[in-house]
Amino acid sequence: MTDAPQDEAIAAGRPGAGAVLAASMAQSAQRRPKSRDLKPLAELWPHVKAHWVDAVMAGLFLLISSSATLTLSAAGKFVTGGGGHFNTQAALNRGFLALGLVISILAAATALRFFFVSRLGERVVADLRIRLYDHVLTLDPAFFLQTRTGEVLSRMTTDMTMIETVSAYASMALRNLVLFVGAMTLLIIVVPGYTVFVVGLVLCVLAPLFLYGRRVRKLSMQAQDKFADAVGFAGESLDALETVQAFCREAGVSARFTKTVETAFRASMRRVRARALMSALVIALMFVGVGGMAYLALTAVFIKHTMTGPVLFQFGFLAIMAGSSVAQIGEVMGEIQKAAGAMDRISELLHAQPNIAAPDHPIALPVPPRGAIAFEHVTFAYPGRPDLPALRDFSLSVRPGERVALVGPSGAGKSTVLRLLLRFYDPQSGIVRVDGVNLRDADPAQGRARMALVGQDAPLFSGSAYENIQFGREGATEEEMRAAAQAAQALGFLSALPEGLNTPVGERAKTLSGGQRQRLAIARALVRNAPILLLDEATSALDAENEVLVQKALHEAMVGRTTLVIAHRLATVLKADRIVVMEDGHVVEEGVHADLVARGGLYARLAKLQFGVEAA
Ligand SMILES: Nc1ncnc2c1ncn2[C@@H]1O[C@H](COP(=O)(O)OP(=O)(O)OP(=O)(O)O)[C@@H](O)[C@H]1O
Ligand SMILES: [Mg+2]
Repeated sequence: MTDAPQDEAIAAGRPGAGAVLAASMAQSAQRRPKSRDLKPLAELWPHVKAHWVDAVMAGLFLLISSSATLTLSAAGKFVTGGGGHFNTQAALNRGFLALGLVISILAAATALRFFFVSRLGERVVADLRIRLYDHVLTLDPAFFLQTRTGEVLSRMTTDMTMIETVSAYASMALRNLVLFVGAMTLLIIVVPGYTVFVVGLVLCVLAPLFLYGRRVRKLSMQAQDKFADAVGFAGESLDALETVQAFCREAGVSARFTKTVETAFRASMRRVRARALMSALVIALMFVGVGGMAYLALTAVFIKHTMTGPVLFQFGFLAIMAGSSVAQIGEVMGEIQKAAGAMDRISELLHAQPNIAAPDHPIALPVPPRGAIAFEHVTFAYPGRPDLPALRDFSLSVRPGERVALVGPSGAGKSTVLRLLLRFYDPQSGIVRVDGVNLRDADPAQGRARMALVGQDAPLFSGSAYENIQFGREGATEEEMRAAAQAAQALGFLSALPEGLNTPVGERAKTLSGGQRQRLAIARALVRNAPILLLDEATSALDAENEVLVQKALHEAMVGRTTLVIAHRLATVLKADRIVVMEDGHVVEEGVHADLVARGGLYARLAKLQFGVEAA
C-alpha cells in the first residue's frame, strides 16, 4: 500500500528528499533479512554506557551465580563419592552447610543479576524511545508524505518491545557462555582424555543452530514487516471509523485487515516451522552426543575401570551443562537476532536525515522582527510530483504590517505559499525571505518563531482548552489565554463546558464542533503574539454571525502585524490592504477589491459569483 507513491517518485526520476528517505528505508527493508550479524545492536552501546553501573553490577552477579552453579558439580562429586569425606556426622553437616551456602549465593546472585539486567534493559529502551521520538519530530513533512505514520509507529512500538527483551536474552546468553566456558575448563581438568569428544558434542549442537538460525532470522523479519502492515492499516481505518461506518464498509475493511493479518500469520508460521525443526535437530544431536559419551564413560568406569564413579558423576554433570548451555545460547540467539533486526528497523528511522535543517552557520534574523516577507521567482513542486509544480515563478513581496489576502480557485497553490514560508519544504528555484534573510540560510525554528498559523484543518490535541491555547506560546499566562480565547470568540462556549477552560477536549478535540475547534485554533495562534499571522481558511467553518465577530477580533490582532490571509469567501478579505489573485501556481492579478472588480478578470468573475449583481 505504501509502495505506490515511492515507486511513483522514483520512476519520476527526480525524487524529493522524503521520497529518497522512504525509498532507502524500503530498500533496506528488503535488504534487511540478509544482514546476519548483530551489528545493529551496537547502536545500543552508548545507552548502555550511560548506565554502566547497572551493567557492571549485572556482570558481577552473573559471574557469581555462574561460579556457584559450577561449584555444585564439585558438591555432587563429594556427595556421591562420599567415602572418606563424610565419615562423621559433623563432616556431613559441614558438607551440607557448604552446599546450603552455595545455593543461597546462587539464589541471591541470580535475583540480583535479574534485577540489574532488567533495570538496564528498561532504562536503555526508555532512553532510546525518547531519542527516537525526538528525532522523528525533526523530520520534514516530505518524509511523512512517503512513509505511512503507521510504519513509523510500528517501529516505535513493536520493534522497541523486541529491544526491551534483548537485555534479558543477552544476560541469558552471557550466563550460558560463562557456564559453557567454565564447564569446558573443568572438564579438561577433570577428564582430560575426553576433551576431543566434548568438543565434538558441542559442534553437533552448534551445526543445526547455524544452519537454521539464519533462516529463522530471515523469516521472523518477514513476519515483522507483515505485522507492521497490519498495524498500519488498522490505525488508518480506526482513525476514520465514522467514514467506514457511514459507508457501511465494515466488512470490506475487515476483509482487508484479515488478509494482512493472515499474511503475517503465515509468515510467522514459516518461522515457527523452521524453528521447530531446528529444536528437534538440536535435541536429537545432543542426545546422540551425550549417549555416545555416556557409553564411553560407562565403559571406562565399569569395564576398563579407568574412571571412578564420582568422577563419572561430575563428568556427566559438566558435559550436560556444557551441552545444554550451548543449546540455550542457540535458542536465545534466535531471539537476539530478532532484536537485532528490530534495531535495524529502528536505526533506519533514527538515521533518517531531515532535509530541512539549520545550516552549520545560520544567519540570524534581524531583531526586533519586522515582519517582511518576500517570494522571489519561486518554483516549487511537491516531492513525487516533479512535473506538476504547485508554484511557478511565484513572486510576492509583503511589507511589514501589511495585510495581504490570497484568493484563487482550489488547488491554485495558496496553502503551498504558507508551507514554503514556514519552511516545511525548500523551493526548487527562487528565494523565500523573511525580514530580508533567505530562509535556506536561517535556522527554521527562528523563522517559525515569528509566525502564528491557523491552518486549513488546524489540528488540536487531547488535553484541556488551556493546554491547547498554551501550545501557541509556552509560558502564556491564564489572563493572556483568556484574552486570546475572548478575541477568538471562544471564551463563551469554552466557559460553558463542565470545567470551563480546564475541560478535556478529547483526542484531536473531537468533543468540540468544527467551528468551535476553529475558534480554539485561532485563540492558539493569537496567544502566540507573533509578528506574522498566517490564516488559511481560518473562519471557513463559522456561521455568518460568529464569522463577523471573529473577523473583527482578527482585524484587531492584525494591527501592527504582517498578515497573509487565505479565504474562499471574498467577504472576509474585503478589508485587506491588497488582494493577490492566484491561479495555477502564480499571481494573475493584484490590487484592492474595487480595482480588481473594475478590471474584469478572474477576481471580478469570482466576485460576481459570490456577491451577485451587487459587485458587478
Ligand atoms: N502533499 C502534497 N503532495 C503533492 N501535491 C500536493 C500536496 N499538497 C498539495 N499538492 C498539490 O499542490 C497544488 C496546490 O495545493 P494547495 O494546497 O496549495 O492549494 P490551495 O490553493 O491551498 O487549494 P485549497 O483552496 O483547495 O486549499 C494542488 O494541485 C495540490 O494537488
Ligand atoms: Mg489550501
